Amino acid sequence: MKPSPGDTIKIATTEATFEGILLQRPALFEPGFIVLKLDNGYNIGIEEKKIKKIETIKQYEMPIIKRKEFKHNPKLPTVAILSTGGTISSRIDYKTGGVIADYTADDFIQMCPELAEVANMKAKKVMGIMSEDLLPEDWKKMAEFIAEELNNKDIAGVVVTHGTDTMHYTAAALHFFLKNINKPVIITGSQRSIDRGSTDAFMNLICSVTAAARFDGAVVATCLHGSTNDDYCILNRGGRVRKMHTARRDAFQSIDELPLAKVFPGGSIEVINTAYKKRADVKVEVEGAFEKKIAIIEVFPGMDPGVINFYLDKGFKGIILNATALGHVPTVFPEYSLMDALQYAREKKVPVIVSSQTINGRVHPFVYTNLRKLSIERDCIFVEDMLPEVAYVKLGWVLAKTQDTKKVKELMLTNYIGEITERSDPRAYPFDHGIAKKH
Ligand code: DGL
Repeated sequence: MKPSPGDTIKIATTEATFEGILLQRPALFEPGFIVLKLDNGYNIGIEEKKIKKIETIKQYEMPIIKRKEFKHNPKLPTVAILSTGGTISSRIDYKTGGVIADYTADDFIQMCPELAEVANMKAKKVMGIMSEDLLPEDWKKMAEFIAEELNNKDIAGVVVTHGTDTMHYTAAALHFFLKNINKPVIITGSQRSIDRGSTDAFMNLICSVTAAARFDGAVVATCLHGSTNDDYCILNRGGRVRKMHTARRDAFQSIDELPLAKVFPGGSIEVINTAYKKRADVKVEVEGAFEKKIAIIEVFPGMDPGVINFYLDKGFKGIILNATALGHVPTVFPEYSLMDALQYAREKKVPVIVSSQTINGRVHPFVYTNLRKLSIERDCIFVEDMLPEVAYVKLGWVLAKTQDTKKVKELMLTNYIGEITERSDPRAYPFDHGIAKKH
């Protein structure tokens, strides 16, 4: 009988014999191949023309998942774990062969029972969205769920599971939105879906629950692999952290400051950077209003200054100019100079924020004459070493409070969550003689 997807089969080919679970052949893929999921979690494709024999070992039976009940352990702290989607919540959709967001916080506890040895878990699904589709309204919704848990005296800390692509935007947003944060809010995710042999999800979850339960900081921080090995996770402050690699498990790096701490899967926490607020017995409030009509404009050679006019004429309320190095933009040749467009922004009282494409280091309003043209003649706001994405999140949060340009400048240059460092820590610069240094 022809095997069906999900059956365990043995395939003898002209080269070798393979045994594994027959996967659905997504219609999107070219015919002539069979895909098997091997015992080790990896998938292999086998050319049909090389197959000599197929034998069904075991027919697929819908697994009856007996959900484990975890008894409350009064000796352990209780951590709230809120799921929002992303790869960590994902599994392979064998219809398309792609990855979909499906698992919830409660599923993580079922799949990773070690979590119950670290803390009592209170699971809630907030949403199930890949992070590239998240909106500022979702940040507010997350903040409201989190604040409720932070104000519950029985909860030691909160873990938020999240897609990695825009995790650093959410980490900054939650840090601004959660006024008087009183315990750790730890955001985690994974670069490999939880049903793959190479998943980083389980260690990220264990370290994140450990940090939420026991880290002494009242901060929003990401907690994912600190190296490509499974040795430790790193706590990076929301507002200083950025996803710096498309696929590495240690993609999240603190920029211009050292990470807060290393968290080991065995339960120990090694503080690296002590500059953070400690846990406090205060009531958390949510300030989640956000002005979305903001544009981030990348500055590049030959850009058309009309891009700025386009946004101004569409009624945008703020612009982030992600400028070159110290904050430069074209100002010399009339056809390409941004000066007229910036004058138009000034007349329309639309604040223009200057961040840097270098990501590391800080902008400066006075070093060069061209910079003075922007800062003095056009009132552009230079935001030190604030990351471009954080400048966007902060400007949306500030513009929801005030649109008075003087007040906007004052609030943008106020350091709320460590989004501006007093000085860039040279030890944080990751590239040294071409060999990446690890903390
Ligand atoms: N779609 C991406 C996201 O949700 C998947 C990446 C991930 O979660 O690692 O951010």
